Amino acid sequence: MSSPSQTLPSQSDTTSQPTETPPKETAESPTPARGQKLPPTLFIIFGANGDLTKRKLIPALYNLAASHNLSKKFAVIGVDCVSMSNEEFRDKIDREIREFSSQPIASQVREWLRQRMHYLAGDFTDPQTFDLLRAKLHEVDLSQGGAGNYLYYMATAPIFFSEIVQHLAGKGLIAQHKGGARRVIFEKPFGHDLASAKVLNQQLCTILAENQIYRIDHYLGKETVQNILVFRFANGIFEPVWNRRYIDHVQITVAESLGVEHRGAYYEKAGAVRDMVTNHLLQLMSYIAMEPPNAFDAEAVRDEKAKVLRAILPMEAEEVMRSTVAGQYGPGTISGHPVLAYRDEPHVASNSNTETFVALKLFIESWRWGGVPFYLRTGKRMARRVTEIVIQFKSAPLMLFRKTPIHHLNPNRLIIRIQPEEGISLNFGAKIPGPSVQVGTVDMDFQYGKYFGDTPNTGYETLLHDCMAGDATLFQRSDNVEIGWSVVDPILDVWRELGAQATRPYESGTWGPPESDALLEKDGRKWRNPG
Ligand code: BG6
Repeated sequence: MSSPSQTLPSQSDTTSQPTETPPKETAESPTPARGQKLPPTLFIIFGANGDLTKRKLIPALYNLAASHNLSKKFAVIGVDCVSMSNEEFRDKIDREIREFSSQPIASQVREWLRQRMHYLAGDFTDPQTFDLLRAKLHEVDLSQGGAGNYLYYMATAPIFFSEIVQHLAGKGLIAQHKGGARRVIFEKPFGHDLASAKVLNQQLCTILAENQIYRIDHYLGKETVQNILVFRFANGIFEPVWNRRYIDHVQITVAESLGVEHRGAYYEKAGAVRDMVTNHLLQLMSYIAMEPPNAFDAEAVRDEKAKVLRAILPMEAEEVMRSTVAGQYGPGTISGHPVLAYRDEPHVASNSNTETFVALKLFIESWRWGGVPFYLRTGKRMARRVTEIVIQFKSAPLMLFRKTPIHHLNPNRLIIRIQPEEGISLNFGAKIPGPSVQVGTVDMDFQYGKYFGDTPNTGYETLLHDCMAGDATLFQRSDNVEIGWSVVDPILDVWRELGAQATRPYESGTWGPPESDALLEKDGRKWRNPG
């Protein structure tokens, strides 16, 4: 993440459209838009034939190329077990760019990228694959004029992470070089619980230095998520009220209308807590709750995140029963179309207890947050796709308008909308014009697209950019990951004991099981369900 010190251009400066020209191949360019020139890089993707590569990584690389961020000495080596020639791989990538890109395709940029794509077929567990990889790296390095830095991306099932790293080490492909960085990006899930995350961290740490390890959470690459830090720490007016004196509670909702799609086999073992809470929701929570870091760099930011997550009050079994809700979607309707129950999805057991929804109430034990509930919920097949954070402030201390026809004043809410609409709004009461005093709720509304123009973004561009630039601020450090697991492990333990009783059914196309509403209602509060 580049330093936030630049002044943003005014609205009128930001209407330009994505460029249609390919990266210019002069010695001094391409110049990364985020203010840091990207070094020459060989980007090696393990799992090049998989879903993540085609849906996220390649479109993100396309966007980086289209915005002139990639070095002319950039190249990709895709590794996977499927047998394919270079040309077949290039054709496949060509088709997928067209299918999954988030912006209109410029043929010159596509061709520029195509020329830099290479493929190697091989089994990740076979040492011979890594001999072939070494030869391929050498060959591509030579043809590209010495790419210098190797960035490995583990887009594979987690069981391969440690083994691939060991093979790379065995072939001398991962030790840091003078003048050549060696970095590895690990996709989630990073472990299955605290114990397995610790084992994985230990295994990797015997081979890699922490500054070579980039544990990705794609939520941290979203512009609106990065903006939380700018909103909080680059403005003087919010920080004084950002605490237990003024804030009543915080709601974090990450709702999806999609079901598990074709990922039933993975999801059966994961569930909503492992899939979404340990990483995305706790990261959002840490951005809202952390203290200001003393510098805007990887260590300072990650120290503050770790501190706040460590202060989450651990739950005893009784608290888990009172403060958590697990749900599983049944059949229902999404956008007017009937959809299947989770148990009828492919690769899902017909008696599965896996949760596709979770709602939690968490507390942070600190002077800033003591007694302020953080309500978190996430689920699949919910009423609509929306990610937002609601900061609800305490009501005014006096009902000054008691003698007027006003029976109820809505509390002020600051709503940070992460997706699909991106923006921030502040609700407050205003007098409705007329002879009597009547109060209505109005919005001060900032919309990203309206002000800055739409940016074609998969969420991975920033993260890939930052990793090539060696900036780990937006990546999770080992302690961050382990703290995440230590928050959720006690919850999962209790649910496991409860078995089938733990998971409440909900109809697809709704906001989750009624118990989720009850979680807030018993505290006299209500979820904001955006229409
Ligand atoms: C992934 C989860 O990390 O995030 C998916 O594995 C989920 O289950 C996805 O659908 C949501 O990401 P986004 O960016 O679409 O909100």
